[in-house]
This record gives sequence, structure tokens and C-alpha cells, in this order.
Amino acid sequence: MTSNFSSGTINFSSGFAKNFQNDARRAEIRATVSALCVAAKQISHICARGPLESGLGDATGGANSDGDAQKALDVRSDEIVTAALETAPVAYYASEEQDDVVTLDASKPLAVASDPLDGSSNIDTNVSIGTIFSIYTAKKDALSSFLRVGSEQICAGFFVYGPQTTLVITAGAGTETYVLDPDTGNFELAIAHMKIAPASTEYAINASNHRHWEAPVRSYIEDCLAGADGPLGEKYNMRWVGSLVADANRILSRGGIFMYPGDDRKGYQEGRLRLLYEANPVAFVIEQAGGIATNGALRILGMSLESLHQRVPFVFGSERPVQMVASYHHKKSVKSDSSQLFNKRGLFR
Ligand code: F6P
Ligand code: MN
Repeated sequence: MTSNFSSGTINFSSGFAKNFQNDARRAEIRATVSALCVAAKQISHICARGPLESGLGDATGGANSDGDAQKALDVRSDEIVTAALETAPVAYYASEEQDDVVTLDASKPLAVASDPLDGSSNIDTNVSIGTIFSIYTAKKDALSSFLRVGSEQICAGFFVYGPQTTLVITAGAGTETYVLDPDTGNFELAIAHMKIAPASTEYAINASNHRHWEAPVRSYIEDCLAGADGPLGEKYNMRWVGSLVADANRILSRGGIFMYPGDDRKGYQEGRLRLLYEANPVAFVIEQAGGIATNGALRILGMSLESLHQRVPFVFGSERPVQMVASYHHKKSVKSDSSQLFNKRGLFR
């Protein structure tokens, strides 16, 4: 059976967005997620055709607002997401691929931020990539709809284009996973209450940056590498896909910790990942599945956004290792006595 890639539905669980008392708001969220599902099906279809679609991984010659080289699939995905959101109750769209917020229809109630194609370095390699999104209620102007704390998200999630096309999503009442059924073209509920294992000895980090990392992260990873004989007393294993969505999906499935810390390379003081459309939505999904998401020490969802494409060091996953990394930052701040990491908003006060 061939599925229709321009329509199809998501069969929401009865629990999805049940925390919203307001029926109209629930309907708006569902309509927006349904539109994103249509976009995801189109992007997934293009990904599945891979080399049969010419030039997906080719550089466009341009760069996004953050300086990353744009690839053809980045731009196409952004166009597909924009077109889908035009059919939804969405006023404003903020994208990794656009310098400024795009106004779709200022009279509509919601605002959506997205990384339309996450993991672009894996496009030509037949490795999982995805689309990340974050939904807020719209404010009266475009920019202020996004310059706020991540705890104000009303729904967030990500699609993974891999062996299966999946959607991991939360509207604040737990995290669910849906799978695209290629036979029907519908997203069906696969896991109703995702729960991240509280402990794990698997970590994800781009180890080639070791010499550049901030000191607490370097100490933590060195202690992991020391294995059972080291201070952590256990043998650790490493997995790094290099697509945030795929690493996050693995951690949701079997636990672990992801780290993209700040480092001393030019432009990487605040890490690589963007707060608005990468860290915030992933953090919302992770917390709703019982995990923790920090910048190493402080909760991601409590951070205020000062500019659209702002970066943030990102550490998330199973409770125990994420707390352990925070304790390494704590030790450092006690030693230097100058760090503000553990002021009253810190994890440990
Ligand atoms: O979108 C940024 C991203 O591609 C993430 O998906 C991934 O986690 C990270 O960059 C990979 O960074 P690096 O190229 O340093 O391994
Ligand atoms: Mn990305």
C-alpha cells in the first residue's frame, strides 16, 4: 500500500493535551501538531528516497543565521514546515534557517519555533535526522512570542527520520511516542508514558573536542574513561550519532546522558546547540519523561532567551549522571569561589 504524503492524520492518544482545560486551546495544539505531521511525512519521504533525490546534502552556498553551512535539505525542510504551518492556527514561525521571525498570520493564537532539519551533517550518510519543534501561545508581537523561558512552552517534540519515522511529543502531561505507519500514512501511538531510566552508564559527547571542553565536563569524562577502577566505580560506554534527535531518542529509550558543553573554540563558549529550537523542546520532552536537562548546572527550562539564535551548553538524560555532572560543576564553583552556577536557581539549592 502506498501512503499519501500530503495528508494523513495522527491518531492522538486520549491523554494527549488532557491537561488543557480549554477545549479551544487543545484543538489549536492538535491542529498545529497535525500540520507538523504532514510536513514530517513529506520530509521523511524525501529522506527515504535519499540519493534518488539529487543533491540533498549539497551545500547551498549560504549559511544560516548562526553561521552553519546550509544544505539543500535544510532549505527544503524549512519551506515544507512553513507551508504546513500556514494551514495551522499559527501567527509566528521562528526557524533555525531564518534570521528573523516569519509572520504567518498575526491574528492566529500560536507561535512555533523549529529546527526543520536537525543533524544536517548526516544527510548523505543514511543516518537518522529529524525535525524539532516548540509551541507557545503567541504574544502581541513576533519577537516577544519567543523571547521567554522554555517552561512557557505548551507543546514540544521532535520527529526522527530513521529506520522508522517517529514523533516524540509532550504537551505537559507526560511524553508519548508515535510511529508513522507506512501502510496507512497515519501516526499511531506506540508508547503512552515514556520513562527514562534513572541511571545509566552510557554517555554521548563529541569526544574530539576533549581538549576544548570546560573543566568540569573534562573531569567527568576522564572519570568515566577510568571505568571500574576510577572514582565513578563503573565501566562506561559511549554512543554519539551526531544528530541531536537520534541521540535524544536513544536516551529516552534506554537511558544515558548527552553533553554538548561550552568549549574554548571561537564561537563555542556557549556550546553548539540553540536554546529556542533545540535545547528547550528536547528539555521539555526529557523532563516530562522523568529525566533532567541542564546547561551543566542550571535547569534549561528556567533560562530566559535574549536572542533568537542564542546557544546554550546542553546536558540532559537520566537523572543520576546529569546530577553527577552538576556536582562536578559544583565542586569547581566551590573551588574557584567565583562561579555563579550555584546561586539560588541552581540544582542544589
Ligand atoms: O543541529 C546541530 C547538530 O547537528 C546536532 O544535531 C548534533 O548534536 C550536533 O550538531 C553535532 O555537532 P558536531 O558537529 O560538533 O558533532
Ligand atoms: Mn539542529
